[in-house]
Amino acid sequence: MPATDGIPQSPLQIAIVGMGNVGTGVAKILIEQADRIAHRAGRPVVVKHAIVKDETKSRDIVLPPGVLSSDLSRVLNDPTVTVAVETIGGLHPAKETVLALLKAGKDVVTANKALLCEYGHELFGTARELGRTIAFEAAVAGGIPIIAAVGQSMAANQIIGIQAILNGTSNYILTEMQLYGRSYAAALKQAQDLGYAEADPSLDVNGTDAAQKLSILVQLAFGTKLAVADFPVVGIDAVDQTDIRCAEELGYTIKLLASAKLTGKHIELSVRPTLVKKDRPLSQIPGPFNAILLEGDMVGPVWYSGRGAGQLPTASAVTADIIDIAVGRAQLTFSRLDLWREKPAFTNLGLDDYTSRYFLRLKVEDKPRVMADITGILGKHGISLASVIQPETPEVDSAAANVPVVPLIIMTHRTTAGQLAAANRDFDKLPAIHHPRVCLAVAD
Ligand code: HSE
Repeated sequence: MPATDGIPQSPLQIAIVGMGNVGTGVAKILIEQADRIAHRAGRPVVVKHAIVKDETKSRDIVLPPGVLSSDLSRVLNDPTVTVAVETIGGLHPAKETVLALLKAGKDVVTANKALLCEYGHELFGTARELGRTIAFEAAVAGGIPIIAAVGQSMAANQIIGIQAILNGTSNYILTEMQLYGRSYAAALKQAQDLGYAEADPSLDVNGTDAAQKLSILVQLAFGTKLAVADFPVVGIDAVDQTDIRCAEELGYTIKLLASAKLTGKHIELSVRPTLVKKDRPLSQIPGPFNAILLEGDMVGPVWYSGRGAGQLPTASAVTADIIDIAVGRAQLTFSRLDLWREKPAFTNLGLDDYTSRYFLRLKVEDKPRVMADITGILGKHGISLASVIQPETPEVDSAAANVPVVPLIIMTHRTTAGQLAAANRDFDKLPAIHHPRVCLAVAD
């Protein structure tokens, strides 16, 4: 057939390995938007193989005959397929599959942040040795082009700060709890039904998913590989309606904030529920949306937001990677990505030296000296108070012999994690402070 619109007719033949939510979305875009994709890729992009675990399962897409199969070797042994999409998810067999695809001569597109966070070094190293490319725009913040931003568009800068909402499920749950008073469990169920959550949703709500994404961004931005275990990661599973209401009254919204900042030669990074002032754009990001505020030393703050979870937003980023491979852009970017410094220029700050402001919510016995003891402990550890509120709403602590207690809410000035931990140890010695004690970071 003759070329039309400058598009040569030899198609780019691809395989999709894993036809869950995202894999199906990629096939839908490639089939339903075939003309648009052909125009942007310079040639038609055709799904030649779609590899699944169970061929008999009913699916939300009709593929041409012969495409669907459970046999990965059909892809590995097909030299006409040069690009494979890994949308299996999880660590195994995704890792083995990507290695096999690379060794079989395929460039790989993946949305799998857990895989890159855990085995990125090995996979990227293997790809480079073999002269192959791994593209992973969809691995962080779904449809938001943040990998391109950090890896290419801000290349003249040293990134000096990242503040981000990177987990759509958690943000959806917090939004539903805050705006509609919905329970945590009901909001989580809804996030799962809408296809935002991971197969194991505890990875969303315990902060792991956001931490994996932050770790990938930190590696790109600072050339430093830090595992999720190397920095503080706290999920939203411990946030309750009382904290959301208290924060609201103080003029804050609670968000699961992923943050990284450079202080000299050190990086401070964390993922944790954080009070964000209501007039800051990050506090207003609703539902499954993600947002990222990057700070470059040349450009200053740059802001991205969009859908970070869901079928088509994530598939949109995967498809952009396929197009980038088709036109040769991904290969150029991949060969220059700053992922392999033996001696990174920046290292993780000691965890005790991390600094933040904090919101403390204590349940205390309403009797003389309690406030003096608490402020005395904070003062002893050099923690300065920004405000203290003790609403007159006594209750009995049914978990502690029905002793009357009142809430005490303290906002601190900036302090170190070490100072706060020492104060908490002293709080443990005061029987007038009941459990649970809530301690949340406050964003700058
Ligand atoms: N479960 C993830 C989220 C999907 O909720 O953000 C994208 O990684």
